[in-house]
Amino acid sequence: MCGIVGYAGTKHPKDILLDGLKALEYRGYDSAGIAIKNEKKVQVIKSVGKIKYLEDKINNNSLIDSNLGIAHTRWATHGAPTETNAHPHNVGKVTLVHNGIIENAGEIKNKLISKGVIFNSDTDTEVAASLINYYYSGDQIKAIEKATSELAGSYAFGILFDDSDMLFAVKKGSPLIVGIGSDGNYIASDIMAIINYTKRYILPEEDEIAALSANSFKIFKNGKEIKKEILTADVSVEAKSKQGYEHYMLKEIMEEPLLLENTLKPFADDMSLIPDLKEYSEIHIVACGSAIYAGMIGKTLLEEKAAIRVYCEVASEYRYKKVICDKNTLVILVSQSGETADTIAAMRKAKDMGADTLAIVNVKSSTIARESDEQIFIEAGPEIAVATTKAYILQVAIFGLLAYKASGLKNLKREIGNLPRLVKEILDDRDTYLKIAHHIYKNNDVFFIGRKVDYAMCMEGSLKLKEVSYIHSEAYQAGELKHGTISLIEEGTPVFGIITDDDIRDKTISNIAEVKSRGAKVITVSNENVTGYDLGVVVPKISDFFQPILVVPCLQLIAYEVAKLRGCDIDKPKNLAKSVTVE
Ligand code: F6R
Repeated sequence: MCGIVGYAGTKHPKDILLDGLKALEYRGYDSAGIAIKNEKKVQVIKSVGKIKYLEDKINNNSLIDSNLGIAHTRWATHGAPTETNAHPHNVGKVTLVHNGIIENAGEIKNKLISKGVIFNSDTDTEVAASLINYYYSGDQIKAIEKATSELAGSYAFGILFDDSDMLFAVKKGSPLIVGIGSDGNYIASDIMAIINYTKRYILPEEDEIAALSANSFKIFKNGKEIKKEILTADVSVEAKSKQGYEHYMLKEIMEEPLLLENTLKPFADDMSLIPDLKEYSEIHIVACGSAIYAGMIGKTLLEEKAAIRVYCEVASEYRYKKVICDKNTLVILVSQSGETADTIAAMRKAKDMGADTLAIVNVKSSTIARESDEQIFIEAGPEIAVATTKAYILQVAIFGLLAYKASGLKNLKREIGNLPRLVKEILDDRDTYLKIAHHIYKNNDVFFIGRKVDYAMCMEGSLKLKEVSYIHSEAYQAGELKHGTISLIEEGTPVFGIITDDDIRDKTISNIAEVKSRGAKVITVSNENVTGYDLGVVVPKISDFFQPILVVPCLQLIAYEVAKLRGCDIDKPKNLAKSVTVE
């Protein structure tokens, strides 16, 4: 999704802005641009495609003297990814970058057109810039307040005015931080964009306006200046680097053992830190993408081990569905970024309905972390590869903890003591995953089959493979395959069979035999030897609560190796965004 960065300081903004944009690349984008200004001029440079094209263009231009600027990576929503639609948008005295979607842009555009305003792009962002410009008569805060009061939807804006040497910013429903530095002040979609310059930041709340100069930072609410706490980010500059790995995805997978050790230890030392889910009559798990697949594992464990009724639903459905929940319901929101628009909306709906909310979240400064009633932080550190790996594993680990406690068991230390070492051993077996990857990377379709918790793992294995390698892949409940999809199995179609659940082991094995006899190339991933198939990975058998943590890393590495063999842009798959901050 779009990323914004801005600087008001003592230095020329070019390098700071480009550095920030590169750090935001992981969010996914299709065009980029910067605007820098001085007392006389605003200079806007934009480009379609990678940031390096923008950088080349900037380097081939003579830049004006400046110490104030804004920049943007755009993930197209309204209008194609063209240079005209790329941000910043300049209208009259206003130059603006935007992350979010203005839902009533059409209506406002018509109103402004009737007043003689001319539009050049197809974007909702140009409408916002025009509206601020329309209301601007020398008081920046007033113009921003007046315009934003008319906007529906979500936004984080970075705004420059021709006749001001300050940088303005405001947000609603989209992430925005204000960085406080010694050589100037910053705005950014997340701290990683400015971590090379400062770790100190302020979190503006909805519709608070930041006004920044080289040596001052002010936050306004309803026209009045307010005091805000300055926070310090606990991420290191090194977290931004690949640390010798070829890709962030690989680096992040390899971090899993150490992260598991660090994240789980406090809970193992003191189980009272784990929320007691037994006090609720029903649990709803709501999330998107991989996070909902982690939730599906949670649902299976909580139902099977603790006999708690659990309803698991993707946030984009939950937010619009007729949902039955009340004060006896706990709604668990799972989100790495904590900024996924649908998950935020689902959380707000649950709160409005009187349910308690618990967030399993990574980014501590995020909206979900701040607005949920209770939080469990997965402590994954920054996850830069668009496809989640380590965050997913830690989410699954947290569900293991919740189910373990809810089932009344007490010796968590013993249960998870070996987990990090076992994961490390699994990750070290890279040759096996490469061998499997060689067997499937030329195929067009891949299937994953399993039952119950194994099916939940299939969903994640399949998603990982398709998003990074672009191979069409589907996950099926093993017993459901023969009700239609089995017609797609032909000679050489790869089918992954995940078999860890003892209760349905034989059933899944029968389903695997069915596809094998129709020509499928079967790859089993199991916790006991399964013989007679083409390829297989056997992981150690451990407690059901944590067994998925030994299986999914294999699937992550297979997806990685396949993507590499196919020459894909592994860390930034096409069309994908890391943090889906719009609906
Ligand atoms: C898949 C992936 C996405 C995210 C989903 C939710 O690899 O990364 O499916 O899991 O967009 O994002 P968060 O967890 O930030 O809410």
